[in-house]
Amino acid sequence: MSAVLGVEAAGEETSPLIDIIAGARPNFMKVAPIIRALEARRAAGSPLRWRLVHTGQHYDEKMSGEFFRQLDIPPPHVNLEAGSGSQAAQTASIMLRYEELLLERPASVCLVVGDVTSTMACAITAQKLTIPVAHVEGGIRSGDWTMPEEINRLVTDAITNWFFTTSEVANANLRRAGVEGGRIFFVGNTMIDTLLANLHRTRPPAWWDAQGLVPQGYDVLTLHRPANVDDPEVLTRLLAAVASGAGDRPVVFPAHPRTRKMLARIKALPSALRVVDPQPYLEFVHLVRHARAVVTDSGGITEETTVLGIPCLTLRDSTERPETVTVGTNELIGTDPRALAPAYARLNAGGWKKGTTPELWDGRTGARIAEQLERLLLR
Ligand code: UD1
Repeated sequence: MSAVLGVEAAGEETSPLIDIIAGARPNFMKVAPIIRALEARRAAGSPLRWRLVHTGQHYDEKMSGEFFRQLDIPPPHVNLEAGSGSQAAQTASIMLRYEELLLERPASVCLVVGDVTSTMACAITAQKLTIPVAHVEGGIRSGDWTMPEEINRLVTDAITNWFFTTSEVANANLRRAGVEGGRIFFVGNTMIDTLLANLHRTRPPAWWDAQGLVPQGYDVLTLHRPANVDDPEVLTRLLAAVASGAGDRPVVFPAHPRTRKMLARIKALPSALRVVDPQPYLEFVHLVRHARAVVTDSGGITEETTVLGIPCLTLRDSTERPETVTVGTNELIGTDPRALAPAYARLNAGGWKKGTTPELWDGRTGARIAEQLERLLLR
């Protein structure tokens, strides 16, 4: 990357400024390739400027700081330090602080990624100040309005000018909602850019040997959705079903802060479970790519397992990423613990589908987005 990043270059204040919004853990992998691609274009003479705005929704070292370092994301130009709170409190805090920034130092476009609270809050704030919004990963839908992420997607997409999409399904969803084709850009998946760019750097966590882990000899579990973790009885039943399905294998369980709080209230955890802190990116991908299988309620992880060809059992009833099921290695098991046994039986018998990689998930999505932004902003 060049020495002078994004917005700091002098003498070019009139060229378009892109606000890149990052708020929560899954955003960081998505913005890294876009920043890299914009910097590459700047090095080649592009006048586009960018400003990285961290909302502060995730603030822990383990949920944020480590990701910036490992993915070589430059320090944010601005940190709104919005912090934790209810969905409404967090949204309000991000909106107030981002509005203040935009009023003082306006941007030409607000680029948001994914479906977290920061995505929606910044999109609303910008559009109300008549600043156009670009949404990376626009158009995906689970249809489940009980998930805060689905509300964030619906609201964000209703006021987005330009959609950068990951799949033809997303394109079709947008067209069905009345979005004209000229505003939809099918570019692929920036999270997969990051995955492919870092595969050669992944490394085992320091405790790999002490836990007796060997490739394909363990499963990985992640859970953080309120429906799965907020009720200790539901969580206890799910954990028992996972441990029983895994048989003698260890189940490595990097626990999200929200889940950790609930685990503290469960008296006896199954002995197969190896509860560890949220892992940094390079260690987490190492764990996933060498696992026998992954059990999760995340959306992004189903994309990564699809590209890595690792069997993925999703503890949800719906997905906004259907290509991970139709093309990839993912299967929706639902949230009833009893549904896990038959799925594990197939996995244990070696009968899991192989899957292939969805279209345009090729590591070049950031470059496509940067190129398109230049066309849109310099025309
Ligand atoms: C958020 C995203 C979700 C994403 C997930 C990944 C929304 C609506 N949800 O959910 O899509 O998959 O991040 O992690 O935006 N906390 C910490 N340290 C932190 C951040 C949070 O301890 O750095 C605690 C909070 O205090 C809170 C809990 O974790 O108790 C939940 O955090 P929150 O940002 O509200 O949502 P997530 O569940 O992380």
